[in-house]
Amino acid sequence: MYDILNTPVNYGGLELKNRVIFAPTTLGLPQEEQLERLRAIARGGCAMIIIGDVPVGKHGFGPSLYSKKGFAWYARLTSAIHQEGCLVCAQLHQSDSNVKAMLKYVPGVLTKRISMQELRPLLNQEVGPYITRMPAQKAAAIAESFGEAAVLAQKAGFDMVQVHGDRMCGSFSSAIYNFRTDCYGGAPENRARFAVEAVRAIRRRLPDLPIDYKLAVRQEEPHYGNAGVVEAELPVFVPLLEQAGVTSFHVTLANHGSLTDTIPPANHPYFRGQGCFLKYCDQVRALTKLPVCGVGGLSDPAFIADQITAGRIDCAAMSRQLIADPAWPEKVFSGREQDIHRCVRCNKACLGGMMAHQGVHCIYERKASV
Ligand SMILES: Cc1cc2nc3c(=O)[nH]c(=O)nc-3n(C[C@H](O)[C@H](O)[C@H](O)COP(=O)(O)O)c2cc1C
Ligand code: SF4
Repeated sequence: MYDILNTPVNYGGLELKNRVIFAPTTLGLPQEEQLERLRAIARGGCAMIIIGDVPVGKHGFGPSLYSKKGFAWYARLTSAIHQEGCLVCAQLHQSDSNVKAMLKYVPGVLTKRISMQELRPLLNQEVGPYITRMPAQKAAAIAESFGEAAVLAQKAGFDMVQVHGDRMCGSFSSAIYNFRTDCYGGAPENRARFAVEAVRAIRRRLPDLPIDYKLAVRQEEPHYGNAGVVEAELPVFVPLLEQAGVTSFHVTLANHGSLTDTIPPANHPYFRGQGCFLKYCDQVRALTKLPVCGVGGLSDPAFIADQITAGRIDCAAMSRQLIADPAWPEKVFSGREQDIHRCVRCNKACLGGMMAHQGVHCIYERKASV
């Protein structure tokens, strides 16, 4: 059953053994625990794991590809994942948080006058001024660092890179945050420039490396997402990114403001269904022949098989379902669907664990350990 899910596909130049990808997921776990979690996900049968938020700069949050220790960590990760017969992609990430502006909130956070929930909107307020006032030379240098990081990622054993199209790429893309009047602002072609330069910086150095682009789409009526590409501007952004060197698109809702919109719980007022962001995939599909990967509320094998058969997506990326049950692919392929621990999209121990700085877990683990 669901044979299409276990069919190989050429995903932007990379041969995937099946259609299931582990979506980029920052795990917030100690390194050894993280390695074991990713090993289990690889062993469970997915074709590729995307490692979330690999910084493109030397001093980002998380291990840096530029440091000896960070590089060794990524090399160890890629080798462990390859040993399980799974490919691995680095999500190249540049934050759009203004670190200097964040410092003024530190005393408030330390004295608990500002809660973590209150901090996020305060930081979001800083994004627009930060993106708008950034010197053009600095923006160009950051875009260039995507190329430098991609070279290191390939050396560390990554098979593909994904440009994180939210965060700094997404903020430059969005008229909500980008009020620049130079070549990086104004018309959509200009707002696409930062992302296009980031992709070109990779392509120039690595002519054959598959480049996935996490295309964060925002919508109006109702309004969801602030950074990223608004639906009406996809016909400008998609061809420009493709010409720059992108070889596949990973399509989702833009972030910023509320994580529970991009990681929607089962009771979300708008995005509560299976495949809640697939309508954006349809829009991207109409603009390119490159492979498209869907993500967001995908967990039902029959539903996913139907979407691939109908040609809406080529691959299905899952975060929470593979946290709930890393063996989802293997169980589906061997006809043991009834044994799957189904993600109920409660967000309690995964997103909840991350927000509480306890690392990403699942309610099923806790049940298993009591
Ligand atoms: C705990 C957690 C951490 C995440 N970290 C990242 C990340 O580092 N980068 C990213 O682009 N998306 C991240 N995401 C979003 C997922 O990639 C995915 O788009 C989202 O969870 C919706 O898919 P799902 O319904 O299969 O969980 C994260 C999601 C979760 C639950
Ligand atoms: S904690 Fe809930 S939402 Fe998160 S992976 Fe487990 S079942 Fe899914």
